[in-house]
Amino acid sequence: MVSKFRALKVATALRTVDLLIRYTPLFAHKDAPPNVLNLAGGGDFTTVGDANIAALVSLADLSAGDDTLEIGCGIARNAYALHRKFGDSVTYAGFDVMKFCISWSNKYFGADKPNYSFRYSNMTNSMYNPSGEIAPSEYDFEYPDASFDLVFATSVFTHMQEPDFYHFVNEALRVLRPNGRFYFTAFLWDDDAERATKSGEAAFSFKYQAQDSRLDNREVPDAAVAHSRSKLLAHLDTLGGQPPLIINGGWRRKINKQFQDCVLIRKAQ
Ligand SMILES: C[S@@+](CC[C@H](N)C(=O)[O-])C[C@H]1O[C@@H](n2cnc3c(N)ncnc32)[C@H](O)[C@@H]1O
Repeated sequence: MVSKFRALKVATALRTVDLLIRYTPLFAHKDAPPNVLNLAGGGDFTTVGDANIAALVSLADLSAGDDTLEIGCGIARNAYALHRKFGDSVTYAGFDVMKFCISWSNKYFGADKPNYSFRYSNMTNSMYNPSGEIAPSEYDFEYPDASFDLVFATSVFTHMQEPDFYHFVNEALRVLRPNGRFYFTAFLWDDDAERATKSGEAAFSFKYQAQDSRLDNREVPDAAVAHSRSKLLAHLDTLGGQPPLIINGGWRRKINKQFQDCVLIRKAQ
């Protein structure tokens, strides 16, 4: 259970930062957001963004001319990297539940880039938006069917539980064009992950069961979530199309390089 006190504290801090971004020049920056606003995890903002886009190029065929959607865009780490590599030869839409990230991205990154847009949605997430009002499982992406060539989410489903995760998978496939690609990173729970967590080799313990997923932290359930690999495969099977490409990540053996598992799904014709 997320404590009401923690939710209130986080909501107040997030709202204050958002107001400071919108109405003061305190967080003004051009080539990257100030470090203090980057809650996306470890590593250098530019290096990690470039590595994410390189993975999209090599695994998901990202190329000039693509219309792209990022689920959980955070504070534009991947948008910056996409722009460095492809400029205006692609379009990009991103959405996130952290209002200050969207305010900052629209004000400082997107203002002079008409091909890049950012949208806020007040969905609940015990880690990133504990006072949110919309259940992710009730949120339909605000884009028409078949409007993107590539949908991606890096380090987002590692912070979402069931049934939200499966609803987002369905929504991603809905907004993809035929032959479109859906790339995401995740922690996948399978026999190897179970062995590695039990022996202490893995970077997480994922001790708690929640439906068919595993949680690392009961108080903040969205802090780290592992999704059942077999359930994901069965779910995708019901939707048709080819089996996904899955690459196991270094989290299973405490290796930082390509830390999360990667999944690539190609939508059928
Ligand atoms: C670890 S950060 C990664 C941010 C970004 N993908 C990146 O790699 O820089 C996780 C992000 O997922 C977002 N998030 C969590 N639940 C979400 C949801 N239901 N819809 C969209 N974004 C969500 C968080 O607000 C946060 O920005």
